[in-house]
Amino acid sequence: MIVYGGDWNPEQWPEETWSEDVVLMREAGVTRVSVGIFSWSHLEPEEGRYDFAWFDRVLDLLGEHGIEACLATPTAAPPPWFGHTYPEALPVDRDGRRLHHGSRQGFCPSSPIYRDRALRIAEKVADRYRDHEAVVMWHVHNEYGCHNARCYCDASAEAFRAWLCERYQSLETLNDAWGTAFWSQRYSDWAQILPPRATPTLTNPAHELDFKRFSSDALVSLYRAERALLGPKPATTNLMTGAHWDMDCWSFAEAVDVVATDHYLIGEHPHEDLAFAADYARSLNGGRPWLLMEHSTSAVNWQGLNLAKDPGELRRNSLAHLARGADAIMFFQWRQSRAGAEKWHSAMLPHAGTDTKTWREVVALGAELESLRDVSGSTVAADVAILLDHDSVWAQDHPAQPTDRLKPVEVIKEWHAALWRAGITCDLARPEHDLSGYRLVVAPSLYLVSDEGAANLESFVAAGGVALVGPYSGIVDPHDRVRLGGYPGAFRDLLGVSVEEFFPLTEPIALAGGGVGRIWSEQARLTTAKALDTYRDGRPAWTRNEWGGGTAHYLTTLPADLFPIMARVCEEAGVTPAAQAPPGVEVVRRTHPDGRSYLFAINHTDEDAVVEKAVVPAGAVTVIRT
Ligand code: GAL
Repeated sequence: MIVYGGDWNPEQWPEETWSEDVVLMREAGVTRVSVGIFSWSHLEPEEGRYDFAWFDRVLDLLGEHGIEACLATPTAAPPPWFGHTYPEALPVDRDGRRLHHGSRQGFCPSSPIYRDRALRIAEKVADRYRDHEAVVMWHVHNEYGCHNARCYCDASAEAFRAWLCERYQSLETLNDAWGTAFWSQRYSDWAQILPPRATPTLTNPAHELDFKRFSSDALVSLYRAERALLGPKPATTNLMTGAHWDMDCWSFAEAVDVVATDHYLIGEHPHEDLAFAADYARSLNGGRPWLLMEHSTSAVNWQGLNLAKDPGELRRNSLAHLARGADAIMFFQWRQSRAGAEKWHSAMLPHAGTDTKTWREVVALGAELESLRDVSGSTVAADVAILLDHDSVWAQDHPAQPTDRLKPVEVIKEWHAALWRAGITCDLARPEHDLSGYRLVVAPSLYLVSDEGAANLESFVAAGGVALVGPYSGIVDPHDRVRLGGYPGAFRDLLGVSVEEFFPLTEPIALAGGGVGRIWSEQARLTTAKALDTYRDGRPAWTRNEWGGGTAHYLTTLPADLFPIMARVCEEAGVTPAAQAPPGVEVVRRTHPDGRSYLFAINHTDEDAVVEKAVVPAGAVTVIRT
């Protein structure tokens, strides 16, 4: 079965509406709803006084109508009494401003008071409902760190020091790792260490990086503490793959029973962004089917300009997630809110009711997912991996860089988009992961890499793989200390080049092969590599080095058009698309172990297309079964 549904927030509505809701859910083919996400102030109206009667009726109603509940712990939105009683548990920003209650995620992730009260309500919910027939799964919290990932208060300072103490054991080791000899930053007592609060000028990069790691760990630790209370039914939390970078999704993936993510269309090429988010979610779940916990039926409410979806777009987006391995297609939210900050956010059941484009599309999608139920459990195989490391993204985020125009996430997404345009499905992988199943590994932006990660890429290539590495990769160690002896330190031998200086660009630069480089250039000396393209002055722009049984390519700039380079490395690695398709038609295949497979052809153009003899109408999706 493909799970279908969305967030249901019955506390926003009078009880008469609930019975209408469940009837309409059945009409739409909804199989599961997430409930209780923002219910804390209704479940515990005053500290220590609980009201579960209304929620009993909600869950019973779902049970009676055969709709599964993904039951949330309501800890993402502490009630007003929490901030009022415990202002010291509210988050503090970098400038020392304490934020107030009145929104959501109004808490410091390291606050012992928050942890205690959150675990208390989570346990109450768990004790009361863990055996309820409607409950099939736990939805812990909501989008950890979406608004409060980093808190700079005194409680955070104390927790940060404890985390550092555990990591470094001695101040001497910490001083060495952080390079505190610079600018007289040597610590002589743990008590002197603070979160990186506002300072007169640039902060210590290693300090910043550890604070980001610590802050992400604090969120994972909250997840684990809640999860431990819930019992045997599977638990997850909704990540924001590709959209929010403050939490290390790889660490979260280790903690959850199944990976779930949310995705909202954003940017100039939203369908490419969708593919990235979906590939990332699948990779986090080890290639197994994952859950799309939220997306939107139409407009959101939090962008400057919130565009409604065109007819057919909802289906196209949903099936694009399904194609990339989702076994659940869910929305935020079931019924569009009448009041509150999200009243202009679309939902499955819009303000205007059921005589609407959205409702008709929602019902049609429910029926279609039912007809595609046998897709569930099938997987997506990828021959290509893109290396993605949060530590590296965080480290490169520090403002003191050769240029502020080289943005790691943008580069990673650009490279993913180049593969997308070539019809190649890829996974995301950590540099330390087992890469042996891939033919091609690309590292678009890996400023920081561990020795282990670098050695792993070397072994992959030595064993016959093809690698493509982007500029400003392999530069620093896990403490953001430069790898000496010539850049790109960690990959110098593998790539067969040595770089003395960087030359960030003020404007695009012509390449001898006819292309153009952007943002970055280098003065690279070839040690063992050969140049495949150069700048007009002869300096290498694209190099290729033989290494063991494989080859390692390097780019010293960001080519405006990556297509010829991707085509070359794919050809060298023997990587081909899931099917031949015209430009703008996305093709992805899901396969069962017994060989049954589904080729999803998703037409993002205004023209009808043909894929494997099947017609894919403009803007539509065709699923070809074999
Ligand atoms: C998500 C969140 C939902 C809702 C949605 C709106 O980030 O989990 O609760 O706010 O965005 O797009």
